[in-house]
Amino acid sequence: MLLKDKVCVITGGANGIGKGIALCMAKEGANVAILDLNDTEGEKTLNEIKSHNVKGLYINSDVTNPESLAEAQKKISSELGNTDVLVVNAGISFKHSFKEVSDEEWKKVIDINLSGSFYTIKAFIDSMLDKKENDRKSIIFISSGSAFTGGGGGVHYTASKSGQHGLMRALAKEYGKAGINVNAIAPRVIASHILDQLYPDEKSKQELIEQIPIRRIGYPEDIGNLACFLASEKSTYIHGQIILMDGGRTYQ
Ligand SMILES: NC(=O)c1ccc[n+]([C@@H]2O[C@H](COP(=O)([O-])OP(=O)(O)OC[C@H]3O[C@@H](n4cnc5c(N)ncnc54)[C@H](O)[C@@H]3O)[C@@H](O)[C@H]2O)c1
Repeated sequence: MLLKDKVCVITGGANGIGKGIALCMAKEGANVAILDLNDTEGEKTLNEIKSHNVKGLYINSDVTNPESLAEAQKKISSELGNTDVLVVNAGISFKHSFKEVSDEEWKKVIDINLSGSFYTIKAFIDSMLDKKENDRKSIIFISSGSAFTGGGGGVHYTASKSGQHGLMRALAKEYGKAGINVNAIAPRVIASHILDQLYPDEKSKQELIEQIPIRRIGYPEDIGNLACFLASEKSTYIHGQIILMDGGRTYQ
């Protein structure tokens, strides 16, 4: 097992990619806490986590609210212990053209996707630094291939995801020597609510698949498997990197 007894925390872990990561980490022996706003899906995912005979927590916590994150961190610390792996995954997207994006929508996307990443790491960093000298910990951003292509969910989305890459690189520089690996996974076209929102009908999904060299969309487990590897002792020399997971679509 790659992550036996590690404490893994995943924001937006109730659904989609976050859920896929949570379940892969539980399968690898980790105790997993998921933070989300969707209580119904959060409780369901928690049951699936626990079915792997590990400890789990679902906490209703908003990544735009530093106080709610601080409370979540306290609960995780007292029930599971210090955080070993932090996955910054919660995000939203709106497929609007530049002129359609209102000031409010711009602020909302930047607040959840980018500022939410900052608030989350701020709430958990001390718990990650409280460790034995040679232990390695891991922060993994779930960003997006749209930061390379400009496509995806709109200008605010692309800007927020590019901002996550800057934050990731700056943190990698600052915290590598403290024993924390920091990396980003940049997915494209993974089965989830966000994908259904961007490509609502079968015809548009089929057209999309034809643009992907391996001729399938990605699944949350694809991202989960890479996240487990990045969180494990097997990948400690990978640091400050953005790993594109796109079935070969971007650079064909
Ligand atoms: N699905 C894709 O193709 C794709 C591609 C590139 C990047 N991503 C990124 O992957 C991440 C996960 O997205 P997904 O596709 O699984 O979407 P999703 O909508 O299925 O899951 C997102 C989760 O985040 C939660 N969330 C939203 N706002 C929150 C908040 N303020 N606080 C806490 N939780 C909140 C939602 O309740 C939901 O459970 C996002 O950051 C997204 O930008 C997805």
